[in-house]
Amino acid sequence: DVDLAVDLCGLRMPTPVMTASGCAAAGRELDQFFDVTSIGAVVTKSIMRSPRSGRPTPRMVETPSGMLNSIGLQGPGIDAFLARDLPWLVQRGARAFVSIAGETADEYVELARRVGQAPGVAGIEVNISCPNVENRGMVFACDPDSSYRVLSEVRPHIPDDIPVFAKLTPDVTDITIVAGAAADAGADGVTVINTLLGIAMDPDTLRPRLGGVTGGLSGPAVRPVAVRAVWQIRRALPDLPIIGVGGIRTGFDALEMVLAGAAAVQVGTVIFHDPSAPVRVADELRDELAVRGFASLDEVRGLAHV
Ligand code: DOR
Repeated sequence: DVDLAVDLCGLRMPTPVMTASGCAAAGRELDQFFDVTSIGAVVTKSIMRSPRSGRPTPRMVETPSGMLNSIGLQGPGIDAFLARDLPWLVQRGARAFVSIAGETADEYVELARRVGQAPGVAGIEVNISCPNVENRGMVFACDPDSSYRVLSEVRPHIPDDIPVFAKLTPDVTDITIVAGAAADAGADGVTVINTLLGIAMDPDTLRPRLGGVTGGLSGPAVRPVAVRAVWQIRRALPDLPIIGVGGIRTGFDALEMVLAGAAAVQVGTVIFHDPSAPVRVADELRDELAVRGFASLDEVRGLAHV
C-alpha cells in the first residue's frame, strides 16, 4: 500500500496535497465538501493588516486558456482573521497554513509576529508575489534584495518550529536567484508559483474583461511554467523544500511536480469546478504511484533529475 505521508519541515501531513492560497477564504467553506483535516494543509487567502475591498469588478474571468483573477487581496484584515477564521480551522483540527501579505516590510513583520503568536498555526506562507496591486509595488519577489529583506525581517518573529515558505512569482529572469535569497534570509522553503500577469479582451466591448485590466493567470495553462520553476529550484538548491502549485487537476499532475522535486503540492483553480479536488488528487496520486510500483513519495521526489 502506498504511503502518501510527508514531513514538511517538521509538519507531518497525511498527504502532500494542500489547498492553494486564495481558492477558499479560510477553509471553512471547503469543509462542506470534504473533511478538511484529511488533506495535507489548508492554506488561507493572504491576510493583510487592514480590511480591504479589493479591485474593481469583474475580478474573475474564465478564458479558454485559464482563469484570470484581479481580486486585489480583498479580505477581512488580521484582527477578524485571528478572532474568527483561524480559531475555527484550529479547533476543527485542520493544519492551518496562514498566508500573509503586506504593502511594506514592516507590515509583513507585524503580520508574522501576530500570526506566529496565535495558537495552533501549522505554517506561514509569506506572499511576496501578488500581481494584483497598483503599480505592482507589492511584488517584492521580482527583486532578490527585496525578497531577502522581507524574509529576513519576518523570520525572527516566527517560532522556529513553524515552517515559513516564501511564495514566489515566475515573472522574473531567474527564479532560482529569488529562491536562494529567500532561503538565505531564513525561509524554510518556497512555494512556486503565484499567478502570471495577463489581460483578456471582451469581444463585445472590445475592452479588457477585468475591471482592473490586468489579472493573474492560473489553471492548466500555467502548469508547465510551475513544473519548470520547481525543476530549476531543485537543480540550483537541492536541499530547499519546494511546494509546487499551478494548474494541478489530476494525480499525474501532482506526480509531475514531485518528479521535478516538489515535497508537497497545492491545488487551486480546479477547486472552483471540483471542490473536493484536494482529496481526489491525493487518491489519484496514490494510484499513479501504485501502478508504477512505488511505495512512498520519497522514492519519486526529484526522480526526474537522475
Ligand atoms: O493571483 C493572485 N491573486 N495572487 C495573489 O497573490 C493574490 C490574489 C489577489 O488577491 O489578487
